[in-house]
Amino acid sequence: MTRVLVTGAGGMLGRDLLAVLAARSDLKVTAATRTDLDITDAEAVRAAVARHDVVLNAAAWTDVDGAERDEAAATAINGDGVAHLARACAGHGARLLHVSTDYVFAGDADTPYAEDAPTDPINAYGRSKLAGERAVARFLPETGYLVRTAWLYGAHGRNFVTTMIGLAATREHLDVVDDQQGQPTWSYALATRLVALADAALAGGAPAGIYHGTCTGRTTWYGLARAAFTLAGLDPDRVRPTTSDRFPRPATRPAYSVLGHDRWAEAGLPPLPDWRDALSDAFDSPTAPAPWKVA
Ligand SMILES: NC(=O)c1ccc[n+]([C@@H]2O[C@H](COP(=O)([O-])OP(=O)(O)OC[C@H]3O[C@@H](n4cnc5c(N)ncnc54)[C@H](OP(=O)(O)O)[C@@H]3O)[C@@H](O)[C@H]2O)c1
Repeated sequence: MTRVLVTGAGGMLGRDLLAVLAARSDLKVTAATRTDLDITDAEAVRAAVARHDVVLNAAAWTDVDGAERDEAAATAINGDGVAHLARACAGHGARLLHVSTDYVFAGDADTPYAEDAPTDPINAYGRSKLAGERAVARFLPETGYLVRTAWLYGAHGRNFVTTMIGLAATREHLDVVDDQQGQPTWSYALATRLVALADAALAGGAPAGIYHGTCTGRTTWYGLARAAFTLAGLDPDRVRPTTSDRFPRPATRPAYSVLGHDRWAEAGLPPLPDWRDALSDAFDSPTAPAPWKVA
């Protein structure tokens, strides 16, 4: 029986991975939350990876502004921690599917970033995640899978969609930035795709390397907030467009976070769904209960 280790199993994506894997009686799943396994502990990582065929890594430092204040701490997890996982997978012959980010790119393009486009992060979080990507590429050139995602929202954990719907309870109008382009991505859809990629990898049908795990299409945070309001039965005109300079934050955000998805074809898989379809599925989903349902 195929043995799967999920690291970061208590996070937003981690919990959706466990939900997807729960339907698979052909897999033996080990769920490791941060309490069970701290990926910065090389020895513990080596022991945990042993006897597994595939590792799905959803563990990360995800506080983008916090990384600006303490880049070393973010890199210890997103760079060194991932290197421990990659080394352990190499040692035990396990495949590693590691989740990365659009923030490895500068965000100054005007056409979608291809999987092999040059990286050039503009903030500490992006640099820390790029260090993790390099570790996977170095230690697992044949069995390492980097899946870059972005703008994640889901049923578990704090995210933009739940924040917007929550704010609607106390504010008549919300001013939301309309000058950053991206691809909102439902964490449950990404989890489903990661498991499919693991299947393909184990069957020898997916080449190692970089895949872009974002929904297709594009919008702005303003567009996403309006779409979420509409699905929640709220008046979308309560959302008003504004610009990023009204909300100065420690970490600079890329203005253009639109990724291309050509590589999925090599694994025999389609790209993830359009962001609007995924958002609508998320609001309707019986499998991943959505706390943003207010109707
Ligand atoms: N959220 C987004 O919009 C977004 C965008 C692009 C890429 N990503 C990537 O997507 C992946 C999943 O993100 P997410 O949104 O699910 O984040 P999340 O909810 O913050 O989950 C991350 C998990 O990792 C755990 N963790 C932190 N440090 C750890 C360590 N040293 N050892 C083991 N576990 C540790 C966290 O535990 P604690 O909560 O206890 O610290 C948390 O459970 C990450 O690789 C992230 O970089 C996310």
